[in-house]
Amino acid sequence: MSIKSDVRKITTNTLQQMKQNGEKISMLTAYDFSLARIVDSAGIEVILVGDSASNVIAGHETTLPITLDQMIYHGASVVRGTSRALIVVDLPFGSYQGNSREALNSAIRIMKETGAHAVKLEGGAEIIDSVERIISAGIPVMGHLGLTPQSIYKFGTYTVRAKEEAEAEKLVADAKLLESSGCFSVVLEKIPSKLAKKVTNELTIPTIGIGAGPDVDGQVLVLHDLLGITHEFNPRFLRRYLNLHDEIKGAISKYVADVKSLDFPNENESYN
Ligand code: KIV
Repeated sequence: MSIKSDVRKITTNTLQQMKQNGEKISMLTAYDFSLARIVDSAGIEVILVGDSASNVIAGHETTLPITLDQMIYHGASVVRGTSRALIVVDLPFGSYQGNSREALNSAIRIMKETGAHAVKLEGGAEIIDSVERIISAGIPVMGHLGLTPQSIYKFGTYTVRAKEEAEAEKLVADAKLLESSGCFSVVLEKIPSKLAKKVTNELTIPTIGIGAGPDVDGQVLVLHDLLGITHEFNPRFLRRYLNLHDEIKGAISKYVADVKSLDFPNENESYN
């Protein structure tokens, strides 16, 4: 089943307009058709098919193992469930670093095989050739600076980035470089609020924060964290809106008990 409708779609221009008008942008991850449908119908502007699928869907410790084929599977599922939001798909680790030709091929596969609207890459100056080559093919690119989980083994920890002057200066320079290369937006992950505010004020493209405080142009969270499915992950920046872990577990325990006690199925739930 695919969702088609006449609703006004969100584009990269919409996001630019929102920044200019001071209207905040909401972004959430989704990885499958059913949840994308709910997220889209709730009025989110941007759905990110994040490589966090590697953690929350596949159960890996890091985002490194997820493959381009797997990201394409998730991306295509989300596209089928979405009629309004702008859909951005992460280029996974190993599909764009160090080789701009391969980066372009990866981005083209995402666009052709999923129907998504844009791709996201992690990093600044070190991946700028890939960013430029993808943009020159007409594919919109979202940048991602600060804590970049694909580089976790370089950082060694998931703590706040760019607290030191030198790293903060590089982050500001990288953000400007991504903007001048044509990125339509930049994610700022887990950096001090003051630095995120400075970057946001100095860029004309929208910044989307996660653990970057309130003075950015929009916010993003991982859907499974917001819903309380990943209940053991408790960073300071996360606001949980539900405790689905307990709700789902409770419902399933009740089902198990009903099956065992012969309460399910009853006569109304059976065919004559
Ligand atoms: O993969 C992801 O979910 C992300 C967000 C945390 C921004 O990149």
